[in-house]
Amino acid sequence: MKKFHKSLALMLVLMMAFALAACNGGKAPTAEPETSPAGGTNTADPEKKMIVGFVQVGAESAWRNANTKSMQAEAEAAGITLNFVDAQQKQENQIFAVRAFIEQKVDVIVIAPTIETGWETVLQEAKDAGIPVVIADRKVDCDPDLYDVWIGANFMAEGRNAGKWLAKYLAAQGRGGQEINIAILQGTVDSSAQVGRSDGFAEIAARHDNWRIVEDQTGDFTRIQGAEVMESFMQGANADKINVLIAQNDEMAIGAISVIENAGKVPGKDIIIVTFDGSKEAFGWMVGGQINCIVECNPVFGDQVMDICKKLVAGEKVAKEVYVIEGIYDEKDAAAEIENRPF
Ligand code: AHR
Repeated sequence: MKKFHKSLALMLVLMMAFALAACNGGKAPTAEPETSPAGGTNTADPEKKMIVGFVQVGAESAWRNANTKSMQAEAEAAGITLNFVDAQQKQENQIFAVRAFIEQKVDVIVIAPTIETGWETVLQEAKDAGIPVVIADRKVDCDPDLYDVWIGANFMAEGRNAGKWLAKYLAAQGRGGQEINIAILQGTVDSSAQVGRSDGFAEIAARHDNWRIVEDQTGDFTRIQGAEVMESFMQGANADKINVLIAQNDEMAIGAISVIENAGKVPGKDIIIVTFDGSKEAFGWMVGGQINCIVECNPVFGDQVMDICKKLVAGEKVAKEVYVIEGIYDEKDAAAEIENRPF
């Protein structure tokens, strides 16, 4: 009876994983779980391809789609089978996918976590199964012994860089002492991209007595919600005061631009716009003068992730934390840089 329950549970996990992958356009996890022992020894046989289970946050932004593409292309180039699941920005879908990967006995699990908290139990399950885990992009807030490597951007530094750029820009315009009223479109609450960018920017803002954060709400990193929240800012009590917008990603900034125009203001002039990521589309808006600064967040690190996976399977030493390289761009760089943008 106990055995029956166990098989039934396994069947349900696999069926749900298929449904999840299929409904998101993601590649379904491998049909038959690998029969290699837990710990992913698929690569012991050189004929067998290494299998990596990768659960992505979703498809909420151009950044995210570029990151998915980079992981898929680099896995293929490295001869790795990538079992891909799009979690539609839901942590519960991610936890579910990780459990399916454990059942499949993949060689490595890669998680791009939606939010920082709530990972202990499932990471402990992966550890107990002997499967190495790579955390990619955003961070997890738990005992670092529960995963092997984290790779991604320094979100706190990005937030600080946005603040430092703004201070310099205002000073160059002779507005260093003027009243600055800032609206913030936050990313997904409790994601490390939101936490780091908010904290880093707040740290710099606190050094300026004339800066005030008058609006601060989440647009969940999507264009549509960025526009909706900006709409509420432009109808709120501070509408006429706002002279800076910090959008925590390009999607929300682009969504906000037409809302600002519809409110009779000139984006990039009446309201200085600083954003994060650096998509080609956002660079286009910067060439047009509507966006003033882009703090880059680099999504193209699939090659590094696949390299880490191979090293983990081979039992080689890997750094616990790997930061990707990124820059800061403003209007003067926009036209020259737009063609170099990778996404
Ligand atoms: O975690 C990285 C952030 O997630 C990117 O800034 C954003 O565009 C994405 O949705």
